[in-house]
Amino acid sequence: MTDNTDILSIRNVFKVFGEDPDTAMKMLDNGATKDEIFEKTGQTVGVFDASFSVKKGEIFVIMGLSGSGKSTMVRLLNRLIEPTSGTIELNGKDITVLGDADLLDVRRKEMSMVFQSFALMPHMTVLENAAFGLEISGVDTKERNKRAQEALDQVGLGEHGSSYPHQLSGGMQQRVGLARALTNDPTILLMDEAFSALDPLIRYEMQGELIRLQKEQERTIIFISHDLDEAIRIGDRIAIMEGGRVVQIGTPEEIMRNPADDYVETFFKGVDVSKLLKAGDVASQESSAKVLINGTMNLFTQSDKHQFGYLIDGDDKLQGVIPMEGIDTTTASVDALMGQQIDGHGLIYSDAPLKDALKQVAQSDYPVPVVERNGTFRGVISKDLMLQTLSHS
Ligand SMILES: Nc1ncnc2c1ncn2[C@@H]1O[C@H](COP(=O)(O)OP(=O)(O)O)[C@@H](O)[C@H]1O
Ligand SMILES: [Mg+2]
Repeated sequence: MTDNTDILSIRNVFKVFGEDPDTAMKMLDNGATKDEIFEKTGQTVGVFDASFSVKKGEIFVIMGLSGSGKSTMVRLLNRLIEPTSGTIELNGKDITVLGDADLLDVRRKEMSMVFQSFALMPHMTVLENAAFGLEISGVDTKERNKRAQEALDQVGLGEHGSSYPHQLSGGMQQRVGLARALTNDPTILLMDEAFSALDPLIRYEMQGELIRLQKEQERTIIFISHDLDEAIRIGDRIAIMEGGRVVQIGTPEEIMRNPADDYVETFFKGVDVSKLLKAGDVASQESSAKVLINGTMNLFTQSDKHQFGYLIDGDDKLQGVIPMEGIDTTTASVDALMGQQIDGHGLIYSDAPLKDALKQVAQSDYPVPVVERNGTFRGVISKDLMLQTLSHS
């Protein structure tokens, strides 16, 4: 999904709310805390020295408790809030220096925002509401209706264009908000707790919708949430904010396994790792030794144990699981190895929840190989690895 290019890079961004940010910035330089600054100057540090990059095509979730600076952060990204200092680069260009006209252009074409609650105009139809942003931008009626209809189609409201907002459920109204943001076909979608007001079922459905939309269109989405389940479900990566700082950035599993501090750990406490992690997230090749056999196939063995080998062909496909006892890899041939393989060995698909792999790993005599749906070898899960992973929760 992501092609690993940074689309947005934030460097040393600060936001101080108040009359005299210079004084607050000096105090920050001298090591003062957010609380000290508030006590002495009455000013609030909204975001403190944030630096991170968002990759093209990813869903990047910003998570944190209320007041941690999430909304400030996302508004800094399109300069609805002006940074006190720092740079914000969109495709390598610093947008903190843009004039009003250029900035407006960026907001129209590059970054659209969806808010938690936004006003639908009660006297306007769903189509007109979806087209509203375009109307403000001066797009003519025919064009804006066409684009609004496309956006409504995308969010599953294609048939409801002539309805009025009061005829829609809360979830459907929120979809109109999403459609409005999509009419610009923005490169980046900024969503500030966009689903937080929805009831759980509709919320879940919207999360699925967003994942689908993102897959189809490869849009970059920056999604604010204070809900961990939501963050883990939709986030390719999560940034965790605490008191204006970004304290950790990583994939859900990276953060879960290695929380940066107690605050992060508290967030992840009680999360059922076995449900959230996929077998492929856990499968390890790290501790494995790789030997080339007859110049054609690779044999992976766990370097600490060497009890079982996993024969992988030139296309990275798993060909067999082999008990290594009595086998000399320097002289063994592929044919001989294949003759030794365990018949009907088990395997786990990489997209299976870890939970579903538990029993299989527990009952297997060998670390169970994990493969993608197309057969590509991802690694193995041993009993030790399974226990280690689960004991982190
Ligand atoms: N316009 C503002 N003026 C003064 N302080 C603000 C303003 N907006 C936000 N803050 C303060 O900045 C901090 C971060 O707020 P916010 O970004 O809204 O947090 P979150 O979205 O994580 O709940 C809070 O302490 C909040 O009170
Ligand atoms: Mg907020």
